[in-house]
Amino acid sequence: MHLYALCTSLWNLALIALTMSAQLASAAPSWTTEPFSPPAYPLAVRSPYLSCWLPQGNGTALNADWPRFWEGSILGWAGYIRVDGAVYTFLGSPSVSGPTLAVQKSAMFTSTQSVFILTAGGVDLIAAFLSPVEPDDMVKQSTPFSYLSLIAQSNDGASHSVQLYTDISAEWVSGDNSLIANWTTSIGDIVTHQVQLQDQTHYSEASDHIQHGAAYYSTKAATGLTYQTGSDQNLRTQFVQNGVLLNTQDTDYRAVNDDWPVFALARDMGNVTSATEPFVMSIGHAREPAVQYIVSGGVLQDRSLYFWSAYATIADAISFFLNDYASALSRATAFDSKVATDAAEVSSSYGGIVALSIRQAFAAMEITISKTSTGWNTDDVLVFLKEISSNGNTNTVDVIFPAWPLYLYTNPTIGKNLLLPALQYQVTGQYPNKWSIHDMGAHYPRAIGHNDGQDEAMPLEECGNMLIMTLSHYQHTGDLYIINSYAQLLDQWTQYLIEEALIPANQISTDDFAGPLVNQTNLAIKGIIGIRAMAEIACLLGQHEKSANYTSIAQSYVAQWQSLATSFDGRHLTLSYGNNTSWGLTYNLYAEKLLGFNLFPQSVYDMQTAWYQTVIQEWGFPLDTRHTYTKTDWSIWTAATVSSTNVRDQFIGAIYNYASNGKNKAPFSDWYETTTGEVTGFRARPVVGGHLALMKGVLPTASAKSAKFKRAENGTCGILQSSGVGTSLPTANNTRNSGSKRREVMMTGWIAGVAGMVIGLLR
Ligand SMILES: *[C@@H]1O[C@H](CO)[C@@H](O)[C@H](O)[C@H]1NC(C)=O
Ligand SMILES: *[C@@H]1O[C@H](CO)[C@@H](O)[C@H](O)[C@H]1NC(C)=O
Ligand SMILES: *[C@@H]1O[C@H](CO)[C@@H](O)[C@H](O)[C@H]1NC(C)=O
Ligand SMILES: *[C@@H]1O[C@H](CO)[C@@H](O)[C@H](O)[C@H]1NC(C)=O
Ligand SMILES: *[C@@H]1O[C@H](CO)[C@@H](O)[C@H](O)[C@H]1NC(C)=O
Ligand SMILES: *[C@@H]1O[C@H](CO)[C@@H](O)[C@H](O)[C@H]1NC(C)=O
Ligand SMILES: *[C@@H]1O[C@H](CO)[C@@H](O)[C@H](O)[C@H]1NC(C)=O
Ligand SMILES: *[C@@H]1O[C@H](CO)[C@@H](O)[C@H](O)[C@H]1NC(C)=O
Ligand SMILES: *[C@@H]1O[C@H](CO)[C@@H](O)[C@H](O)[C@H]1NC(C)=O
Repeated sequence: MHLYALCTSLWNLALIALTMSAQLASAAPSWTTEPFSPPAYPLAVRSPYLSCWLPQGNGTALNADWPRFWEGSILGWAGYIRVDGAVYTFLGSPSVSGPTLAVQKSAMFTSTQSVFILTAGGVDLIAAFLSPVEPDDMVKQSTPFSYLSLIAQSNDGASHSVQLYTDISAEWVSGDNSLIANWTTSIGDIVTHQVQLQDQTHYSEASDHIQHGAAYYSTKAATGLTYQTGSDQNLRTQFVQNGVLLNTQDTDYRAVNDDWPVFALARDMGNVTSATEPFVMSIGHAREPAVQYIVSGGVLQDRSLYFWSAYATIADAISFFLNDYASALSRATAFDSKVATDAAEVSSSYGGIVALSIRQAFAAMEITISKTSTGWNTDDVLVFLKEISSNGNTNTVDVIFPAWPLYLYTNPTIGKNLLLPALQYQVTGQYPNKWSIHDMGAHYPRAIGHNDGQDEAMPLEECGNMLIMTLSHYQHTGDLYIINSYAQLLDQWTQYLIEEALIPANQISTDDFAGPLVNQTNLAIKGIIGIRAMAEIACLLGQHEKSANYTSIAQSYVAQWQSLATSFDGRHLTLSYGNNTSWGLTYNLYAEKLLGFNLFPQSVYDMQTAWYQTVIQEWGFPLDTRHTYTKTDWSIWTAATVSSTNVRDQFIGAIYNYASNGKNKAPFSDWYETTTGEVTGFRARPVVGGHLALMKGVLPTASAKSAKFKRAENGTCGILQSSGVGTSLPTANNTRNSGSKRREVMMTGWIAGVAGMVIGLLR
């Protein structure tokens, strides 16, 4: 493909986007956006500690503010473009005098990329931020690095002399800018600036930044490349005045904020008319070990990010990552296209919601392995997840649960490996409660359990969640490992549900911010589905009497629940039994759709569907009658339960309107006010993985009549019988979308335009 043709098609797409966005809200930014202007653009978002965003409000250009850590503190990342000697800022908000601001023309995002186009005099600059999502490759997914690539081209047909500059500050390694950092630059085929805190403490955070490990800013050696370390004012002035750096290193190690040391890379792109090859940088943050995990006997194990098993040194990992750029971009584009195509089958608004959620959800987790005396143990994979922003808990069961559709869509084995830490811990006998644990540790990255049993108690919630996710994982993979290994624990939790689910005691649900409540209708739903899930699990274990017993218990509970939970006028379910005026989103019914049960009568779904339409507020459907705020994850889950496409689309449309209304600047918050469209609290949380609840292949709909949805071979286990789905047993290998199949998906729309252009440039 010719570069010029690709670029022309990109500009045409930008014009289409302009026309489209003009029809949208009045508070839209002055540049074109696609698919919409989000609350914050992900820039480098790969792990709880590599999480760099550009907050938007009603529009913040790439050079109108500093990039920020998810929690809001600045991550110094500055960029200049020098065109025929005139310097323009394109990234960050550096204060050196001289440069003017490049003018942002467009901003776009996909599931893996955020791409900005800015005009600097006679040159247009594409700044493309790629944070790979690699669900099928544990080495690549666990490599905590992102790309920034820069491409310049003339916009007036004339040739222009172009130099590019970027730097990062030491803010990338600390949540406390008064701490001392040190740094080195290594020069070879790859030029890498490495910066870290001088005092390293394992497993310790300051303002949610890890106080351990190092940041790495790198590029491949190339003609015209220069580098330098030193104070922000010195380096930026040097570039602004001369267009090159001095290839020198500042060894006066000092505090992050003491004359602000920065780590810069610059490149002379020569005389530019047509698009240049991309100037590609990688930014990463890595540490070793990564997570502390409790095993038998209270022993604390150090666990490491999976990617270390593939490389002898961090330099090797960086070298691979930079050399892999073209392939990574092509994989990312295929992934983006598949997501966009699958989301488009739901509705036109849905794709943007999903695309904005994917990097955020993936970046909350880290894939780890252990070490033996002979080396890495890649058979021992555990995935850990930080409950970002609501608190720092590790592997919160009711945070994994809302995000579950993301793992089902991308790779259910990730879901399994997220459940294993809590399962393994609870069979050691160190956790004293008879119900499921809430989380594996009060603060990430420690997964040290709760031997005192004093974790936040959500007994009904978590027992139901574990049973539902266990069965769901099996249905999507045919993998019986959890069921076979933890049968006794699963049954223990089922006994708890049989005792407690029908008449729920006064307790909190996952929506703990709303406080405790007795007799919660929605919690009872979860508990009953949990019992029914165990019936299926018992069947898979060949325990047919037990299975029949649990099925009949679940069925009898549903009948009793229906009269307890329906309002006196029969128009809706209540929030809690007997309170005729109360109601809520009964999002736990999604679990029944997910598992393919036919337990709750269709009349319940129809009643709720009709009711929701009567309670919608300007910006969406309130979570329940206690407040007018709502949750985005539960809204999309509820959308997947309603019996009317119109109502489903009202739910999706509400989340789209909230996400694109220009009133917010936090990385996609899942908790907002339906009367104002403003964030109530929370940000950057993995629960946005729940926005994939409607994606193709997650639910056993008729159109997904694949072998994915399994039942026991002789059909006695009952699932999905009446829906007629999944009558043949898959082999383990055809339960997943293969990577090659994924790459064959046709690229659509502007995603193809952007990616095609960047890929084309690499050829
Ligand atoms: C929208 O932009 C205006 C003008 O820049 C600013 O005053 C206002 O605070 C912005 N609103 C939000 C929610 O960021
Ligand atoms: C920087 O600090 C780290 C951690 O204390 C130490 O291992 C390293 O040797 C120091 N590097 C330099 C260049 O002083
Ligand atoms: C760029 O163009 C200028 C002016 O035409 C010329 O003097 C210079 O040699 C060119 N530089 C390169 C690297 O080709
Ligand atoms: C919970 O509901 C049951 C069944 O209606 C009822 O007997 C019980 O009194 C309720 N509990 C409270 C505290 O209201
Ligand atoms: C179904 O399969 C299970 C496990 O193989 C077996 O125990 C059971 O007897 C079978 N039931 C029927 C009706 O064939
Ligand atoms: C069904 O299960 C419950 C709870 O485990 C148990 O109490 C009851 O005895 C079982 N009934 C039969 C018929 O096995
Ligand atoms: C619900 O409404 C019915 C019928 O009016 C009434 O009998 C019942 O007491 C009401 N429940 C509450 C808690 O007010
Ligand atoms: C019924 O629910 C509403 C809204 O959730 C609440 O304000 C009210 O106090 C509840 N009434 C009783 C009797 O619990
Ligand atoms: C599944 O795939 C693996 C790896 O490609 C292969 O070794 C194995 O034989 C396959 N199993 C089946 C049942 O096809």
